[in-house]
Amino acid sequence: MNRPVELRTQRLLLRRWRKEDRDAFAAMCGDERVMEFLPALATRAESDAAVDRAEAHFKQHGFGYWAVEIPDEAAFIGFVGLARPRFEAAFTPCIEIGWRLASAHWGQGYATEAASVAVVFGFEVLNLPEILSFTVPMNVRSRRVMENIGMRHAPEENFDHPLLPEGHPLRRHVLYRLTREDWETQLRDDEPTEGASDRV
Ligand SMILES: CC(C)(COP(=O)(O)OP(=O)(O)OC[C@H]1O[C@@H](n2cnc3c(N)ncnc32)[C@H](O)[C@@H]1OP(=O)(O)O)[C@@H](O)C(=O)NCCC(=O)NCCS
Repeated sequence: MNRPVELRTQRLLLRRWRKEDRDAFAAMCGDERVMEFLPALATRAESDAAVDRAEAHFKQHGFGYWAVEIPDEAAFIGFVGLARPRFEAAFTPCIEIGWRLASAHWGQGYATEAASVAVVFGFEVLNLPEILSFTVPMNVRSRRVMENIGMRHAPEENFDHPLLPEGHPLRRHVLYRLTREDWETQLRDDEPTEGASDRV
């Protein structure tokens, strides 16, 4: 598959996973803050299995959850990327965008920056018609990232996560969508107006 394996932004490198990322990822997955809205802290075997799944997704589809690095500063700060959900729901099959960063690096716009380039990849390289995302209603940080990249909440499509049992406190999820059409419109609207600098 002739697709770029690495994506770059002003501050970040999104790349395939390395063996050395596994320790840092396991530490993140044992952090109560990072895992607050996920069903449980992950054991080492579970965090390694998640890395294996991410790499398998790259091999099968040519894209996936990229490991995120801050060049010359932090070798691994978490993941951001695109994936096919592993469960069936009213809105699947689809491609979702997801993220998980180490809490030491939160609040600096990194998730938004990495997600923005993943969205460009999704629309320009994969030619997707749409990208979806979901989380629990209380996960305001994650919802802000969705909104930052132009996604729209589709309240009528909120759903119960099929991999969680009835009555589980994290079962209810909000669903967000970003269509290619909306993304292109937002890009056009964000472009500086021609000749604007002449008027300053
Ligand atoms: C969600 C996550 C990736 C965000 O990473 P980040 O790099 O801090 O995100 P950004 O800095 O790009 O954006 C965070 C936004 O949340 C806002 N925010 C942060 N804390 C907030 C709070 N307590 N209440 C409301 N908004 C908050 C920030 O102001 C920012 O929005 P803005 O750009 O409009 O100001 C990170 O918090 C994380 O890894 N969480 C745990 C894993 C997780 O929940 N993943 C999603 C599972 S579905």
